[in-house]
Amino acid sequence: MKELSLHILDIGENSVRGDGKNITIEVLEDLQQDTLVIRIVDDGRGIPPEMLKTIKNPFTTSRTMRKVGLGIPFLNDTCMMCGGKLDIQSTVGVGTTVTARMQHSNIDRPPLGDVPATLMTLFASHPEICFTYHYSWRDKEGNGDEFEISTQDLDEILEGVPLSTPSVYVWVQEFLADNMKAVRGEGE
Ligand SMILES: Nc1ncnc2c1ncn2[C@@H]1O[C@H](COP(=O)(O)OP(=O)(O)O)[C@@H](O)[C@H]1O
Ligand SMILES: [Mg+2]
Repeated sequence: MKELSLHILDIGENSVRGDGKNITIEVLEDLQQDTLVIRIVDDGRGIPPEMLKTIKNPFTTSRTMRKVGLGIPFLNDTCMMCGGKLDIQSTVGVGTTVTARMQHSNIDRPPLGDVPATLMTLFASHPEICFTYHYSWRDKEGNGDEFEISTQDLDEILEGVPLSTPSVYVWVQEFLADNMKAVRGEGE
């Protein structure tokens, strides 16, 4: 995948299809540790242990329309290629946590891409789900900042206007992008 945001979309959609009602997406950039971590946590139905054993293999899927599942194997490949590792913890009836670790400075690491656009796609197409986004950034000296927002917070700010309303959609996307920049210490 050319951009990590597309992996976020893919793994986020797995959580949606897995019946998650609360889905947390974390992006943690740490230049001091030289790590980039993407973590997606849901409270959905979970993955049965026998499926979990082979889930990094492309032939593991519960889809009926096509015989291969690719979301997790693709992300696993990306992690391995970038000196990292994909970890999946899941308990049936409790939920799933997918943690993708990469070496931040690895030459093969894809760019994050347009994370605000990916988040808006998820948020606006699943208004019934409560999403939380958490972003943190640390520089080489260990100084940094973090930012967190949930769709519940946004609903309160928007007083019932749906996120899919075009002007709102654009505004929230910019709001997310501005906050990510501010966390990285990139001024206007
Ligand atoms: N968060 C999740 N909750 C429940 N089941 C999941 C979750 N993530 C993945 N799965 C299961 O693992 C399978 C493989 O996922 P993936 O590699 O993304 O392929 P695909 O989504 O195309 O089937 C899915 O079909 C689904 O059964
Ligand atoms: Mg998938």
